Amino acid sequence: MNLRDDNVSEETKTLISSLPREQDSQGKLCKFQGCWYYYNTLQAVINFQTNFKPQDTDIILASFPKSGTTWLKALSVAILERYKQPTDDHPIHPLLSDNPHGIVPFFEIDMYLKTSTPDLTKFSTSSPRLFSTHMPLHTVKEGLKDSPCKVVYLCRNVKDALISRWYFRCKYQKSEVARSNLESMFESFCSGVSFYGLFWDHALSYWRGSLENPKHVLFLKYEELKTEPCVQVKKLAEFLGCPFTKEEEESGLVIKILELCSIRNLSGLDVNKTGKTWMNVDYNSYFRKGEVGDWKNLLTPEMENKIDMIIEKLKGSDFKF
Ligand code: A3P
Repeated sequence: MNLRDDNVSEETKTLISSLPREQDSQGKLCKFQGCWYYYNTLQAVINFQTNFKPQDTDIILASFPKSGTTWLKALSVAILERYKQPTDDHPIHPLLSDNPHGIVPFFEIDMYLKTSTPDLTKFSTSSPRLFSTHMPLHTVKEGLKDSPCKVVYLCRNVKDALISRWYFRCKYQKSEVARSNLESMFESFCSGVSFYGLFWDHALSYWRGSLENPKHVLFLKYEELKTEPCVQVKKLAEFLGCPFTKEEEESGLVIKILELCSIRNLSGLDVNKTGKTWMNVDYNSYFRKGEVGDWKNLLTPEMENKIDMIIEKLKGSDFKF
């Protein structure tokens, strides 16, 4: 049995048999609520939707894969942790002793992948609880069951997210970074038949959610975090309900948080150089260049045109990718 098929219940197998199905180099995919998942991830999504008990103060960090999730997790932890003093149990800042993915678990990749009833106290020890996901908003909402908890989405230029996925997948599969991999990934990325579906559908679900209910969903952009980091981090802190005070700003705390969470600092920490996720993914594979526009060196003009044409078709949603 493929690793991506394990832990799937008989009920879910019956559901899968009624869904659109495809196969990629990693395993079998099926389309559920408009988004493509490997079978075991679909099971985790269903486990989450059925069993998650939200608390009103929960914070959900959402993104399409390779959009800067690690950065968003680090910044959110740093913002919320700033009130806490070191204790005997936690003598150092969590970001210095663990990777952001070890601190903020994914619903469908960590918590609900192997069990429908995880012990949540083991997964999220922070208060308020911080969780993360790559599911689109309508699918997340079913698990949140009308809870007013806050959702932050980080969006990134689609071309950079694609290039980042290519490098990550090669590293994950321990294969050479070959252009042939990029070419096949490009086709499935543009058709949307790839893990987590079509980038644009994903981003639009959160964009619309943020317009409908701005107190519930905050839509951030990776590129804006790069160009105006202080403004964006202050916006994030305000949305999370803990804005920086004048004194904090004057003491340089925002800059300190940005420095703590910078790719240079995080990637240089021992834990991130040598640690692994529980799924055996090297923490260092979450840090590469962290730049805007790296795609310009790597996509062919034909690839660029094809993506631009898809974007052109989507115009009218008021959202510029
Ligand atoms: P690149 O491959 O373009 O360098 P995710 O966290 O969603 O998996 O996304 C990974 C991407 O975010 C990678 O992009 C990685 O380098 C970048 N990244 C990770 N940590 C970052 C940070 N602290 N600041 C900026 N970018 C970061």
